[in-house]
Amino acid sequence: MLAREVAMKVLMLGRGVIASVYGWAFDRAGHDVEFYVRPSADHPDEVKLDLLDLRRRPWGRSVRERWPITLRREIPLRHEYDLIVVSVGHHRLREAMELLAPRVGAATVLVFGNVWPRPEAVTAGVPTERVVWGFPGAGGGFQPDGTLLAGLLPGIRMHVQGPRAEAVRALFRSAGVRVRDEPDIHGWLAIHFALDAGMHAQGLRLGSLSRIVGDTRSLREALLTGRELLPMTEASGVDLSRHRIATLPARRARAIAPMLGWAITHLAAARRSLEAHTDPRSEEVRAVCRDALAAAREHGIPAPRLEAVEELFAR
Ligand SMILES: NC(=O)c1ccc[n+]([C@@H]2O[C@H](COP(=O)([O-])OP(=O)(O)OC[C@H]3O[C@@H](n4cnc5c(N)ncnc54)[C@H](OP(=O)(O)O)[C@@H]3O)[C@@H](O)[C@H]2O)c1
Repeated sequence: MLAREVAMKVLMLGRGVIASVYGWAFDRAGHDVEFYVRPSADHPDEVKLDLLDLRRRPWGRSVRERWPITLRREIPLRHEYDLIVVSVGHHRLREAMELLAPRVGAATVLVFGNVWPRPEAVTAGVPTERVVWGFPGAGGGFQPDGTLLAGLLPGIRMHVQGPRAEAVRALFRSAGVRVRDEPDIHGWLAIHFALDAGMHAQGLRLGSLSRIVGDTRSLREALLTGRELLPMTEASGVDLSRHRIATLPARRARAIAPMLGWAITHLAAARRSLEAHTDPRSEEVRAVCRDALAAAREHGIPAPRLEAVEELFAR
């Protein structure tokens, strides 16, 4: 248990995959964690967790438990949360930030997931100095029986600048999660969005992203689809030369796909997140593909691979 003075009061917005996994990790580290869910949402006040916890051992530790949680159906205008974690699909981000804007109080807001388009378009009325940007190192999905099948990796990415970001870094560290500082987090997030669109397009083709495990040709196709979209990130202001490592799998798709495919098949850390993506109708998947293609068209960037599956994600 943490000393009282370092324990944080954390509100997770939504009871999604990423919110639940990190909410659990913060709770286990002694922080005070609550979940905000829409008043109309019908969520049980527990999370059925089937987690491969990879924070301390590369082969992981299996955690299977029913974790009781505290749900809140409103965020009061005056509250004592130190941190509000916003981990929603990019297409829900603006709406979530609008909800928070009058209710931020003294809290820091961690935006923790896909961001598209550029950050200034999604922060709504939340003061930018309150916002910290990061990306999770966990993945998974809810299974039809409600179980959350997920993997928790040892690290996350975040732009660590200023005391608010330092406090968020300390929170993750206390939960055994390393924070990798990403100075150009917005560039990195845009590239991730493009590469995600490539993966999701292939998932739609296969009927589920989970089927990419063990299928090197499909993985290569996903990387090539993502590569088509990199010029779109450049057109939106990203300096790709600052992200040589992040773009490497897409730039060298033919050479890297077999190695990456092997890793995804044989390493639990890589496999778990993909395996859990079994829902072919996920709204976020279609939104990522749709918005990536719209941006490519807006900038006149050819995206024939993504276009070829347009009927699978068009409204
Ligand atoms: N899942 C993964 O494997 C994974 C891995 C890496 C990164 N990410 C990224 O992390 C982010 C979150 O992903 P996720 O898989 O955790 O999403 P998710 O399971 O769909 O969870 C999102 C949650 O946010 C809630 N929500 C959205 N807008 C809200 C609002 N205005 N008010 C209240 N609740 C709201 C949703 O509630 P409702 O259901 O009521 O709408 C849902 O519970 C995304 O950007 C994703 O790309 C995900």
